[in-house]
Amino acid sequence: MNIDFNVKLESTVYHPDPIYQKESWMGDWNTAYQRFLDNPTRFWEEKAEELEWFKRWECVRQWNHPYAQWFVGGKLNITHNCLDRHANGDNKNKVALIWRGEDEFSERVLTYRQLYHQVMRFANALKDLGVTKGDAVCLYMPFVLEHIVAILACARIGAVHSIVYGGFGAAALHTRIRDAKAKVIITADIGYRRGNTIPLKSIVDDAIRNAPSVEKVVVLFRSKPHEELISEKQVDFYEIMRAADPFCKPQVMDAEDPLFILYTSGTTGTPKGIVHTCGGYMVGTYYTTKYVMDLKDSDVYWCTADPGWITGHSYIIYGPLAAGGTILISESVPDYPNPGIWWDIIEEQGVTVFYTSPTAIRMFMKFGEEWPFRYNLDSLRIIGSVGEPLNPEAFEWYHRVIGKGRCPILDTWWQTETGMQMITTLVGEPMKPGFSGRPIPGVIADVVDREGNSNPPGIGGLLVIKEPWPAMMRTIQNHDERYRKYWTTIKQYYTAGDLAVKDDDGYIMFLGRSDDIIIIAGHNIGTAEVESALVSHEAVAEAAVIGRPDPIKGQSIKAFVILCIGYEPGENLKKDLIYHVRMSLGPIAMPSEIEFVSSLPKTRSGKIMRRVLKAQEMGIDPGDVSTLEE
Ligand code: WT7
Repeated sequence: MNIDFNVKLESTVYHPDPIYQKESWMGDWNTAYQRFLDNPTRFWEEKAEELEWFKRWECVRQWNHPYAQWFVGGKLNITHNCLDRHANGDNKNKVALIWRGEDEFSERVLTYRQLYHQVMRFANALKDLGVTKGDAVCLYMPFVLEHIVAILACARIGAVHSIVYGGFGAAALHTRIRDAKAKVIITADIGYRRGNTIPLKSIVDDAIRNAPSVEKVVVLFRSKPHEELISEKQVDFYEIMRAADPFCKPQVMDAEDPLFILYTSGTTGTPKGIVHTCGGYMVGTYYTTKYVMDLKDSDVYWCTADPGWITGHSYIIYGPLAAGGTILISESVPDYPNPGIWWDIIEEQGVTVFYTSPTAIRMFMKFGEEWPFRYNLDSLRIIGSVGEPLNPEAFEWYHRVIGKGRCPILDTWWQTETGMQMITTLVGEPMKPGFSGRPIPGVIADVVDREGNSNPPGIGGLLVIKEPWPAMMRTIQNHDERYRKYWTTIKQYYTAGDLAVKDDDGYIMFLGRSDDIIIIAGHNIGTAEVESALVSHEAVAEAAVIGRPDPIKGQSIKAFVILCIGYEPGENLKKDLIYHVRMSLGPIAMPSEIEFVSSLPKTRSGKIMRRVLKAQEMGIDPGDVSTLEE
């Protein structure tokens, strides 16, 4: 497929201060990428050698299409690298985690030594409940330190964790518990969100009906005095921890043993239980945290995701801890108690590396720049984005208002399935708003047509990864055929399901999901392009576009638009917006209708669910909406 549509490729180029590249772990892209190409095996081996293994691998990669094994024969435990390695060395008193509660005054700090001890105790508590290597444990928790302790405790004893985001309802939780056959659920009595409490435990009570695999429910009590435990199945988090032995040796894991299952937020169809394994995932997340995000010993690193998403797994927990970083975590949402809260936290904690999503950035744009301008953000060194295309408008705002024109922006493209960051612009490389960047060293990516032929610059197509990488998913729980499809749709490549286009320098721009594509009069148009054009209008805060059946053109575009504060909906503004898109993309991409809305249907991880808009528009069944935020 060609996106025979005139994609605007020229963009402003931003050049960060050369000092960034000079002082970076990775160095310049050309040299680093060439070194990888010269000897891919050695490249990955070197990264793995920076970590500690109980037994060295016999072979770096075994590729038996579509099944890959990495660090074959290697024995390890990821928590040994995330905890013991630091807690028994010079870094033992280094702060591992700083937790901020939703009310601005609660704060807790754990050093590496303290975290190590808590994890070991809770690991033993799980063992006492009968959890052994290979058992599935489901976590449904608020974002507190105990959540991280519980995750690492699972990994310590080789239990396979399945984290379900605390914003999901009972039905979504139930499906995930059943699919993974979870033996133990770990939850809390309540979570907090915007000053309200969420009754997590009673949701679990509902969700475990007709879930015969569940033997125990561990409850962390936050409210005081807390309610009584009501059934034989339930146990108190701290009680079992107190009763447990303090020292727990890490379970020896094979590199290819499963580490966790994570159900994708799924903008389409039923959720998929993505399975990641211990060795390759550890190397991939460690490597990208250190070399792509350029994490330094002195950094205070804040990734605003939740552990319930892959970003939380890879870039709050495993990557940064393996790299020995100081990690800030916060239970707070971006606009509560006010839209300055995140900037306040950055100033107060001296955050140096900040990693968030385009949807959060666009929300802040809507509130206005006076909020961030009230705070001193000078500590920031690098700022990142993940989850959706970072449209040029949002890029420029992020760069100017948050990065003060100084911080490199890492617009990282990756997926739950890839486990680690795959495409971005390395720290210190020239940045092009609208483009994510090039494949990182270690990754071979391309934009191709349906037959797998490489598309020249300027011709849109499908994003594929041509060779396996260590942190790739190994299967989909109970549905290996769904796994195989990723590697068999286009040649022997991994098909990501994203539309993209590259420029002459090999920089890749993402145009949206291929199932969201709109075809007008034979032209393929990515939703992201039209949305980006709309958002570049000063009145528009957010936009989502869908294709509707059109008797003449095949499809026509309808746009849903959220206005910035201070703008009123009206017919003139509609005309203005349509004209604006026409001027940026050409007449073919002009929306035929615009509707002003106050919110858009989003997944709980912040992705717009165009499928829901489309179903509403056409009066059809939207399919699975368990991932939809209320
Ligand atoms: C899909 C994966 C990876 C963690 C969060 C999302 C979109 C992600 C970018 C980016 C353009 C992006 C893609 C991808 N996506 N990052 N920087 N630019 N699109 O994980 O829920 O598995 O979603 O998110 O469409 O396929 P996920």
